[in-house]
Amino acid sequence: MTTISETEIPGGPGGPGGGAGTGSDTGTNTDAPLSGPASAPGGAPQARSAKAEALIAQTDEHTAHNYHPLPVVVAEADGAWVTDVDGNRYLDMLAGYSALNFGHRNPVLLAAAREQLSRVTLTSRAFHHDQFGPFVAELAALCGKQAALPMNSGAEAVETALKTARKWGYQVKGVPEDRAQIITCEGNFHGRTLSIVSFSTDPEARNEFGPFTPGFVSVPYGDASAIEAAITDDTVAVLLEPIQGEAGVLVPPDGYLAAVREVCTRRGILMMADEIQSGLGRTGYTFACDHESVVPDVYILGKALGGGILPVSAVVADRDVLGVFKPGEHGSTFGGNPLACAVGRAVVGLLTTGEYQARARTLGTHLHAALATLPKEMVREVRGRGLWAGVDIDPVFGTGREISERLMARGVLAKDTHGSTIRMAPPLVVTAEELDWAVRRLHSAVG
Ligand SMILES: Cc1ncc(COP(=O)(O)O)c(C=O)c1O
Repeated sequence: MTTISETEIPGGPGGPGGGAGTGSDTGTNTDAPLSGPASAPGGAPQARSAKAEALIAQTDEHTAHNYHPLPVVVAEADGAWVTDVDGNRYLDMLAGYSALNFGHRNPVLLAAAREQLSRVTLTSRAFHHDQFGPFVAELAALCGKQAALPMNSGAEAVETALKTARKWGYQVKGVPEDRAQIITCEGNFHGRTLSIVSFSTDPEARNEFGPFTPGFVSVPYGDASAIEAAITDDTVAVLLEPIQGEAGVLVPPDGYLAAVREVCTRRGILMMADEIQSGLGRTGYTFACDHESVVPDVYILGKALGGGILPVSAVVADRDVLGVFKPGEHGSTFGGNPLACAVGRAVVGLLTTGEYQARARTLGTHLHAALATLPKEMVREVRGRGLWAGVDIDPVFGTGREISERLMARGVLAKDTHGSTIRMAPPLVVTAEELDWAVRRLHSAVG
């Protein structure tokens, strides 16, 4: 069995953080710092400074404890690397849950934001502005659709899609009012609003947040026949993630998405793909649905659409679907603001070249090959596509949290999801050498 030996942090020109191989071709800064994390090779963490401790204490004192962040306080970032307030550097293997697909402070995206900051940032939709039309046209074209409706957060885009499906059901399909049903999948994660947690199957997301919004039925993920069996005359849509991210990077069986597409077409309901985490290059294609050449009726996008700079989300569909809204029926003060549209246009521009998707494909193969060399007694299963992996560590080696903390001490930022699964989703500007290094660090953190 091949095992990966622990080596010192690669550094110097061409090493992690050096930016080699991620230069102008991907729009990444090439002047990134050249050294690795300040913690000693082998993983001895540097003690946190009083400044870092004070910032963490201030956070604990003055906000809701709805997150359990790793005890690192980031002060700067560049490409695939972040630096904490004490000057320690870490390879970012989480990438803001895929919001940073194009890397931290991608220069092309920063330039677009700066240019727009110098002109106009907010109008509300009470007026037209000169970035809105181009953004929705360019985004719709990227998706092969006719129209796009921009929002801000991912959850807001999901809510918008749910409202779209209900309106479509009443106006186009002829479902009697207040009867619309939407089919969702067990293990889903679509956000945190009340209606969305109403169809979550995760008790942590739901407990003590009822009463819940009615109108949803849940079926097992990965089983198209379960969807078909759940369809009634009142069903208007199926909402699914093409890969379930929060559930542990669960890839459905081959043919599932195509089978769902076929059922939705035959039974006259909308297929709505939440590509907020899986889309925009992450899996090696623009959309995870592309792996099965499937085109849903509705794409739900977010995260990387804002280029890691600001929240930008959208629902993208043809006019017969998005055309159901009339003035006053839906909206958002910040949705589609000039700054968001300018950054979103630059994101669409990066994706139009296909470079990032190709990078995610090639580097994804590299990452999965490296993960496959980890000892089988340590790693129970690795799932994923492209630059996205869920690594199930045998729980005897520690909880996901413990392993994430040990990884942090070794200069790699990753986050656990359910149990002992570590998810790896670095910015797509990461290099093969950096991925190898991260996998060696994982080996050392587990073993
Ligand atoms: C698939 C999916 N949908 C929706 C969301 C919610 O996005 P946001 O946190 O921007 O509201 C997420 C966030 O992780 C997600 O992964």
